Parts: sequence; structure tokens; C-alpha cells
Amino acid sequence: MSVDPDKLDLRRAELFDFHGVPMTHFFTDTWEDVQNFQARPDDILIATYTKAGTTWISYILDLLYFGQTSSERQTSTPIYERVPFLEKTILPVGSGVDQANNLPTSPRLIKTHLPVQLVPKSFWEQNCRVVYVARNAKDNVVSYFHFDRMTMTQPEPGDWSSYLQRFMKGKMVFGSWYDHVNGWWKKKQAYSNLHYMFYEDMVEDTGREIDKLCSFLGLSPSVEEKKQITDGVQFDNMKKNDMVNYSTSTAMNFKISPFMRKGKVGDWKNHFTVAQNEEFDEDYKKKMKDPSLQFRTVI
Ligand code: PPS
Repeated sequence: MSVDPDKLDLRRAELFDFHGVPMTHFFTDTWEDVQNFQARPDDILIATYTKAGTTWISYILDLLYFGQTSSERQTSTPIYERVPFLEKTILPVGSGVDQANNLPTSPRLIKTHLPVQLVPKSFWEQNCRVVYVARNAKDNVVSYFHFDRMTMTQPEPGDWSSYLQRFMKGKMVFGSWYDHVNGWWKKKQAYSNLHYMFYEDMVEDTGREIDKLCSFLGLSPSVEEKKQITDGVQFDNMKKNDMVNYSTSTAMNFKISPFMRKGKVGDWKNHFTVAQNEEFDEDYKKKMKDPSLQFRTVI
């Protein structure tokens, strides 16, 4: 369906409570379809809190499964079409559910930012493989702040210091970072088909993390293929690649900030004041009680 971008409703949306999670209408407009989504046993669900490395892991998975088979896919289909965002609906263009249902590929790679308790139950019933990527809270909130500045469908971010307070209170689209990473971490203890990854590990050694991912998925790419993938998914290469850098998105204003912004661990130091950092750390200790879930804010 061809739609004039000027006719799309790409205004900043308001947050509202949705089953206990702050959301905007873009992610609830077709909720019944989302909840009734029929997963297939070979579907791979890519789950993340917003800005944790979703596009990075999506591209890695896409290359692992389809990099050798379809060069056209790599040169003419943006990553957000190859990997539908399940709960996202932009009327009248369509919904992530429709996009996923129309995917011709097997496996289907499907993206979600939903907290674990809102994921459609068919993914669990079908015992689908799930790849979760988590990013340390400080870099995650900085990345989210710049994303909300440049994405015209997100709630107005306001200034940095009020944004940081809002993050600590969990009043973000898709809710609390703390609940998200903990909820999925707990799920991993009970559901063995979940591979929990950390953004910081991926930055530290992308090849090592791809190896671990492949062993979870039962894939064994050749040495040459693995090298190609590891090179192709480096930040600078992805930033230049129009099929993965979101330059084709109509909802984003790259003059405010690029989607592929810095791709670093530790950029939070350029944003947090000393006082903000102390307050954040105090609050963090109260919310992150599980000693088995540890994040690195520097590498
Ligand atoms: S979204 O909107 O939730 O799908 O965004 P998401 O893709 O999860 O996160 C975007 C951030 O991930 C960074 N990124 C990378 N970092 C390092 N290496 C690679 N290859 C890479 N690809 C994406 C991207 O730059 C965003 O982080 P910031 O800190 O804003 O740069």
C-alpha cells in the first residue's frame, strides 16, 4: 500500500497506563491482534528494552540466516521490514502483526520491546527461541533520550534532567528498564530457549558473542562467513548502510540526532552530572536486588 508520508499521523504521542505499563497508542492500537498472534515453532523472537541493541542483533541474525541466500534482501529491504516490530502500528500503513504474518522467510525474525508478561502466549506455547539483549541502564537512558528527541512519534522528552527522573520512575514507553531486564532475566531461569545477551559484551568482542549466539541457535557458519558478518555489523559499517541505519524512516529527524548515534559503552559520562550519578546509583541499588544480574557501565 502506498501512502503519502505527509498523511501519516506522526505526531508525538502521550503516555498512558496499559496493563500496568506506560505505553503509547502506536503499540496498543492493534493489541488484540498482537495478543492473538500465532507464532510458529521456528520463529525467533528478538526481545529488548528500547535502545539496547535491537537493530544490531536483528542485523546479525538476518545475516546469519539470510546473508548468503539473498543479496537483494541486503541491498533493497530495510531491516525494519525484514524484522517486523510486532506490536507497532502506524495507521493506515499497517501493523507489525500483518507484516510478520506476511513474511515469506523461515525462520521469521520478529522484534518486540514488550516486557515479558505482555508477550503473546503462542511464543511460549510453540517453544520459540528468544534472543534478549540488555544494555546497562546509564547508556540505555542516554540513547533513549536522544532517540525520543529525534523520533516524532515518541512522547516529548523534555530536558535531560527531567528525562532521567522519568526513567528512574519507569515512566517510559514500554515501562521501567529495571522491570524489563529483571523480568526477562527471571524468565530465562524457567524457559531454556532464551539466550540473554549484553550490549557491553557485544561491543567488547562481537565475534565471541556471535559464536555464543550460533551455538544457541545450532548454526555453524564458515570462518569466512563469520568474518563477513562480524565486519558488516561493526558500528561504522552499519552507520553507512542505509538498509540498517534507519535513514529511510519517515518518523525520525536525523538533523536532531542520528539513529546510529555513538554505539559506545560509557557515553553516559558525557551526560550525567556527579550529583545525578550519585542519585542514580542509590536508586539503582534499591531496584536491582538480584546479584546474579550484573551490568557493566564501562568496559
Ligand atoms: S531501537 O529504536 O530500540 O530499535 O534502537 P536499538 O537498535 O535497540 O538501539 C540503538 C542503539 O544501538 C546502537 N548500535 C550499535 N552500537 C554498537 N555497534 C553497533 N553495530 C550498533 N548498532 C546499533 C546505536 O548506535 C544506538 O545507541 P547509541 O548509544 O544511541 O549510539
